[in-house]
Order: sequence, then structure tokens, then C-alpha cells
Amino acid sequence: MLPRKVWGVRPVPGCGLGGRASDILRGMDVLEALYTTRAMRRVEPTPVPERVQALILDAAVRAPSGGNQQNWRFLLVDDPDIRGQLGPIYRSCIDMLWQSIYKDRLEAARANPDDPESAGFLKIYKSVEYAADHFGEYPLLLFGFVQHDPSGGSIFPAVWNAMLAARSEGVGSSLTSVLMFRLDEVLTLLGVPRDEGWIMACCVTFGYPKGKWAVAPRQPVQDVAYKNQWAAPLGFEVDGPLWTPNGDS
Ligand SMILES: Cc1cc2nc3c(=O)[nH]c(=O)nc-3n(C[C@H](O)[C@H](O)[C@H](O)COP(=O)(O)O)c2cc1C
Repeated sequence: MLPRKVWGVRPVPGCGLGGRASDILRGMDVLEALYTTRAMRRVEPTPVPERVQALILDAAVRAPSGGNQQNWRFLLVDDPDIRGQLGPIYRSCIDMLWQSIYKDRLEAARANPDDPESAGFLKIYKSVEYAADHFGEYPLLLFGFVQHDPSGGSIFPAVWNAMLAARSEGVGSSLTSVLMFRLDEVLTLLGVPRDEGWIMACCVTFGYPKGKWAVAPRQPVQDVAYKNQWAAPLGFEVDGPLWTPNGDS
């Protein structure tokens, strides 16, 4: 694919936006981006350049929303002081998660760690714990807010666009929702108005990965999809990912 340019990214005086019309974006095959974008919690503290921040936001606002109302706000956080304050809040939210929603599942997994399902859960647990211990070090956070849409249907396509765009620039991301446990403090810290109906949908962490990109293992489509009638077979099966890094599916 030919390299694409960032058109019309203008520095705002005093804001230090590094993007210029001559900045080259690598771009990426759409299937590669969507097959390899997964929760990337282990990342470097290296800052995410403002031209990539611009792409993340510009990709987000290209997303669909109900009635094209675009009732969304995106709040990028790269200020080390704010990130530092969010770190312990996030840590305590994850602790609350293990002590509530996932309490039984975690206990069951610890009791039987060799069971494949337990092993899978404990792997995610370790990764989530890593994120909780390093939350204040993520170089970039993106908070997604939406008005009059408790379903999230009008914000998550935009958030996913942002994650895919970051992926295309080699930046990993991970979507989190647990800050809801301490919503009040987070909204205060971010200066979010309380009387305009903004719902905090999620926070996404961004950073350059420490590890490698890979295709996410998932339940095969025939286990979770039907055709024409509920529970009716699709008529085909998909035995593995239809996109692979070497094109040898
Ligand atoms: C609505 C939603 C909420 C999520 N909340 C969290 C969260 O609070 N903390 C976290 O570490 N990951 C969170 N995740 C990420 C999931 O754990 C992750 O997408 C899933 O484990 C699959 O990971 P994989 O793509 O690496 O296989 C959330 C994902 C979604 C879609």
C-alpha cells in the first residue's frame, strides 16, 4: 500500500503538535489491523507522538453513530500528573473487580490452575494485574464520553476505530471500563461537567508494545452464529482465522 499523508494537521500555537502535512503515515491492510488488534497491556512508557494522537482522534470521529448525531467527546490524557493520579485509582478499581464480579471465577481458577479454562483466565488475570500495577505509566489514555446513549452503541464503534488506527501506527491499546467503580473521582480529576448528561463509556490505554502482535484466539463462528433461524446451522464452518500474518490460513 502507498504511504498516506496526514492532510491538514496543523500545530496549535503553544500546543506543540508535531504533525505536518509532510508526515507520513504507514497505513496497514484493514484485515491485518482488525485481526491483530487485541488487549495490549504491556507497553513501553515512550510517548505517543501527537501526529498519532491526531490519527487516533480523526479515525474515531469517522465512526458511525445513531442518526449521525456524534454526541461524543474524546478526552486524551498524556499529562504525567493526571496519569499519576489515575494510577492508584485504577489499581483499587481492579482490586474491587477481583473482590466482586470475578471473585468466584478467580477462586475457582486458583483452585484448579491446570484446567485449560482456568489457565486461560489466570493468563488474563496476570495481564490485567500488570495493567493495574503500571496504569500511571501508560503514555496515553483516551476517555470516551457519550450523551443519551447508555447502550454505548454510539461510542464503541468510535473507540474501536481509534484502537485500529493506533494499531496501524504500531501503537497497542487496551479498553478498560473498571474506572466506573470510582467514577466520581475520575470525573472530578478530568474536569468533566456533571450537568450535561455525559456518560463515561470507557478508557483506552495506548503505548508501543513490549511484546509481539498476534491474532486473538476466539470461539469459532459456527459456535456463536446461526443462519436465518435461531440455532440453525450456518452451513459452513471456519476452522481458524481467515487472515493470518503469512497469508497461509
Ligand atoms: C466493554 C469492555 C470492557 C472491558 N473492560 C476491561 C477492563 O476494565 N480492564 C481490562 O484490563 N480489560 C478490559 N477489557 C478488555 C478485555 O478484557 C479484552 O478485550 C479481552 O480479554 C480479549 O482480549 P484479547 O483481545 O487480548 O484476546 C474490556 C473490553 C470490553 C469490550
